[in-house]
Order: sequence, then C-alpha cells, then structure tokens
Amino acid sequence: MPASVIVGLQWGDEGKGKTTDFLAEQVSTVVRYQGGDNAGHTIVIGDDTFKLHLVPSGVLYGHITPIIGPGVVVNPATLIREFDGLISRGIDVSRVRVSHAAHLILPHHIALDKARESALAGDKVGTTQRGIGPAYEDRAARLGLRVEDLLDPASAAARLARVLPEKRALLAALGATDYAEAVDADAVVAMIATWGERLRPHIADTNDLVQRAYARKEHLLFEGAQGAMLDLDHGSYPFVTSSHPIAGGAATGGGIAPLQIDEVMGVMKAYATRVGSGPFVTELTDAIGERIAVTGHEVGTTTGRRRRVGWNDAVPLRYAVELNGVSSIMLNKLDVLSGIPEIRLCVAYEIDGRRVDRWPASSADLARATAIYETFPGWEEEITNVRAMADLPVNARRYVTALEEVAGAPIVLLSVGPERTQTIERAWRPLRHGAR
Ligand code: IMP
Repeated sequence: MPASVIVGLQWGDEGKGKTTDFLAEQVSTVVRYQGGDNAGHTIVIGDDTFKLHLVPSGVLYGHITPIIGPGVVVNPATLIREFDGLISRGIDVSRVRVSHAAHLILPHHIALDKARESALAGDKVGTTQRGIGPAYEDRAARLGLRVEDLLDPASAAARLARVLPEKRALLAALGATDYAEAVDADAVVAMIATWGERLRPHIADTNDLVQRAYARKEHLLFEGAQGAMLDLDHGSYPFVTSSHPIAGGAATGGGIAPLQIDEVMGVMKAYATRVGSGPFVTELTDAIGERIAVTGHEVGTTTGRRRRVGWNDAVPLRYAVELNGVSSIMLNKLDVLSGIPEIRLCVAYEIDGRRVDRWPASSADLARATAIYETFPGWEEEITNVRAMADLPVNARRYVTALEEVAGAPIVLLSVGPERTQTIERAWRPLRHGAR
C-alpha cells in the first residue's frame, strides 16, 4: 500500500480538502505536514459544509487517524475551537494526534505578524495575520515553544521569560499598539496550562505513529497546505508563506522518508487564483474574472478576502509538476468554466521580447513577464452531473487534454462540483515513481 502526498500545484486553494476527503476512504492515516491555521479546507458532504484550518480532513472518517505533524505550527486556541466545532456536530476528534515537536503559535506571533504587515505599508506580503511567519522565525532561531511545552507550564514560563522582553522591544519598535496582553508572561503561561490540559490526550510522537503504520503496510496520505508557488524557497519570494508546501515538505514535516513516498498527487483548479500580494501573470481584472470569482466562490476560507482570479498558467504548472515529482493530477472546479465562450491558457511568457517557457528564477524577470496565450472554445452545458470523461462536452475534453499535455502528468480525477460524489474518476491506480 502506498504513501501518497497531496500537493497544491498553484498558489493554494486548489481544493486539496476535497481531494484528501475523496481519497480518505482508502487510507488509515492523514498527516498534515506544514503551515498552520493560515490554511482552510472546505469539505461538502450532503448538506453539511465543514471548514477546517488545522485538523486534517480525514477526521470526518471514523477509521482514520488524523495527524498534525512536526512541520506544522499550531495555534492551540484555534485547534481547541476547531475540536469544539466538530464535536458539536457529532464528529469524534479523539483520534487526532498532534506532534510533540510541532511549534506553537503564541499571541505575540500574531501581534508581530500584524505589526510587520502594517510597517510594510505598500509592500505588504498580504499574510493571513495568523502569526505563521513569526512562529517559523522563532523555530529557526531556536527560540520557539513546542507542543510538548504545553505539558510543562513551569518550563514554558522559563523559556517565555527569555523570549518576551525581546518581542516587547520589537513590537514597540514596529509601532504596534494593543499588544500588552500578548507579551504578558503570566497571562500566556495561564493559557498554556489550560491548553495543555485539554490537548494532553492528543499529544504524541507522530513520527513513530507514521512509521509504525508504514511498517504495517497501511496507506498513508500526507496533506500539504497552501501550494507549490507559495513555497518559501521555490515560490515567488518574498510573496510566499514561511514553510514548504512542496512534496519534499512531507519528508521534513511529516515523518516519512523520501523513498517511502510512492505517489505524489498534484491538485489544481481549472483556472488560477492567488490570495495576497505578488506577481500573477495571468490575472483577470475584467468581467470574466469577476464571473469566475463569483461562480467559484473564490473567497478565502481563513480571511474572507476575495481571491485574485486568472487563467490557468502552464509555466508555473510545469515547474510545480517537476519540483514535486507529480505522478498524477486532480483537476478541480471544471464546472466553474461552463458558459464562458472562450477559455485561455498561458503556454509561455514573453520577457523583454523573448519567449520563455520556464518559470523565471529571478523575481525581477517574473515582474516583467507577460502571458502568451492559447485559446480554446468554451462549452455551454452544465457538467455538474457528469461522471465520466466521455460524457463531458467535446470542448471541455479538449481543454482538459491540453492541460494534461502542458502539465506532463495524467489527470486522473476531475471535480465537477463541491460534493464528494461530484467527481469523475478515470482509470487509475496509485502510480509508483518512474512508472509514467
Ligand atoms: P502567511 O502564510 O499567512 O504568512 O501568508 C503568506 C502568503 O501566503 C500570503 O500571500 C497569503 O495570502 C498566502 N497564503 C497563506 N495561506 C494560504 C492559503 O491557505 N491559501 C492561499 N493563500 C495562502
């Protein structure tokens, strides 16, 4: 049985929650390997919509162990709120396990995230203001507190006593206001003690759980948050998140070795979206963009911000397929394009009069890139009830085939609506590396 990684091939919000949920039936364990409550997964089952930020989507299945791995940054308040929300809807959360090594997002991280963004004024990254960057900064600086520290408030207090004076000075220098409570050591230690008591049964050595499930030959699913183009090293820096959404992140943040991974499923939408600042070569600021945003409900699950919308772009897509070693693709939200007379696909960039097929390594080059498009006739028909590729309108099939060709990997699942059942499944078995 394979270990599979699910990665976003764009700028996040590709619908990975639906992909994980669709595949979850076959797996024993779902591991979230990076990011924090900046992510948002929307899962629709019948009349129920679940919005999750931290808890892996597999929680909705009784047979799955949902794991929050060591590469994730955990805001305990969000996690407990999410547990309470799920419990109130009859979902059992007792199986959720959180790595003792995951780092904590504490109130001063959130205050710093907000203060930094305000200080950047016109150059904002457009973060979700959840404290993600500052928490990862402290992890790298070896100043962070980890989930295990929730179980030892006295040691947490000693560590905070070293950290908080520096944070107080930093917040003051950034011109922040209203942060007194965030740097009040006694208040934070009291919260840590309460969080620790609540989360104690969930805290575990998740690497051991992963490796034991692997040894039992169970199927494990590693769920990335955000997308390849928001990767700290490989995305459009500095307009990126502070972790590694790419498949390699599953090894560093999930507790699986690279050669234990059998399959990498990339997830993309039929068009592109981006939240926050940063280059977006195929961005649509016209009525078509508005129409896609409205039909596709392109509003952030975490921030409520309207997502920027654009045509699909083969340049970052090819790059993301390479970088992640993608063996198969799930294409989401094809139904959103129904009724658009003409669909465009960016196949290359023009930079200073030259055609460029590869994702520009330099952000200066990327800033000067314009799109070279291929145009495809659209389709009028509603496709939300289609369950087989052969039943799609011919123009929809042509567009899907073109996407598959530019991506260089097979599209094995196609989503034509938000429901778990609104999925076209093509002949497919988990692909081993090099089997293409
Ligand atoms: P941060 O992760 O909150 O630090 O935000 C950094 C960048 O990543 C910003 O442009 C955010 O809008 C973007 N971002 C973070 N999480 C998500 C997500 O789940 N979907 C889409 N964009 C995200």
